[in-house]
Amino acid sequence: MHLQIASKDKSYFLNMVTANNNAYQNIIIKYKKLKQIFMSTAYPSLHSGYTLGSTRLANRIVMAPMTRSRASGNIPNDAMVHYYSDRAEAGLIITEGASPSPDGLGYARIPGLFNKAQVDAWKKVTDAVHEKGGKIFVQIMHTGRISHKHNLPDEGIVRGVSAVAAANTQMFTDKEGMQPLPVPKEISTGEIAALVQEFVQSAEYAVEAGFDGVELHGANGYLLDQFLNPASNQRTDEYGGTLENRNRFVLQVTAAVANAIGKSKTGIRLSPFGAFNEMQADENTEQQYTQLAAGLKETGIAYIHMVDHTSLGAPAVPQTVKDAVRNAFGGTIILSGGYTAARAEAELEEGKGELVAFGRPFLANPDFVKRISIGEELNQPDFNTFYTPDEKGYNDYPVFTEQLQES
Ligand SMILES: Cc1cc2nc3c(=O)[nH]c(=O)nc-3n(C[C@H](O)[C@H](O)[C@H](O)COP(=O)(O)O)c2cc1C
Repeated sequence: MHLQIASKDKSYFLNMVTANNNAYQNIIIKYKKLKQIFMSTAYPSLHSGYTLGSTRLANRIVMAPMTRSRASGNIPNDAMVHYYSDRAEAGLIITEGASPSPDGLGYARIPGLFNKAQVDAWKKVTDAVHEKGGKIFVQIMHTGRISHKHNLPDEGIVRGVSAVAAANTQMFTDKEGMQPLPVPKEISTGEIAALVQEFVQSAEYAVEAGFDGVELHGANGYLLDQFLNPASNQRTDEYGGTLENRNRFVLQVTAAVANAIGKSKTGIRLSPFGAFNEMQADENTEQQYTQLAAGLKETGIAYIHMVDHTSLGAPAVPQTVKDAVRNAFGGTIILSGGYTAARAEAELEEGKGELVAFGRPFLANPDFVKRISIGEELNQPDFNTFYTPDEKGYNDYPVFTEQLQES
């Protein structure tokens, strides 16, 4: 009897010690992780500050522009304020593409930046990011022929550089699901000046909305890229044909925007050799982009953001074209496409660029900056909710400290 009680007590005592020991170990692990968060030195280049044009960035980690199709009525909303302010630890946020015109709203539920209601709504986003010490540029994206009437407001027209459809691409519409892309209405030479003015007005609205600058979307097969690329540009006026002519519109828009809001607040995204939205490279592509980069140098803009979507299954972008653009431009280069923190750090140290943009990792990890600084595992992005209208897959990715509390 006596022995039985003693052994019960003993196992009770041992259980208590083990439980307390586990709790103690957990506290130590949590303390160490929190200490790492505040005292991290991982990836020193990525975490070093940088002055981009007139904007001081706390680190070299850029959130890449990502369309999320949450802006019902083409106006930013509270969910978007939440989304961007959660990611304010990025040295620079570049927003999803926002259209400078009713004609450029080709995808379902993308935001615009061409009227006062949109300016006021974007102001809430920029205020929230600035309150947390972040910096934010808006990406100005005109979808051009990558569009469908169902996604446009009543006054919108699907316009293109030439009357050539992207015949093998489909577009999701809320009204009728997937639809073939239409043949766009060709922009006449006489309409070019007004089109340039739409970009200028939008950039001015961006400044009014509190953005630190704008990124012109010259990549991925949207309107500016449609001017650059021979697959979509079959014009016979001074905006088509020769390399100089195909570069003309992009250089005109860039110079006009830089002139209106300041060259130090203006950047551009480019995707030489990109194949998305039926763009095609040819034997002149490298020369074209070298000339384009030289022209962009003349405008004095703050940066070129280079896209390489090899990680998304796109054809490889030759290093020679990247080097040629870097040399001809001579200014800040933002690298992007499939970067891990380790690769980004290595390429910054090799001098391939000054800043690195991360897309999907930021989408799935609001606290991406913190996570990489402590080597914490990343949440994986859910492709199924990239472009869906509600909050699922938008503001519900957990931050690391929440996961820590649950563990
Ligand atoms: C959901 C989603 C939306 C995107 N929307 C845009 C966009 O609006 N503008 C743009 O220039 N690129 C857009 N991209 C491309 C990203 O900016 C980035 O180049 C791409 O995701 C590759 O980078 P990552 O490997 O770091 O994700 C988008 C990518 C994703 C995944």
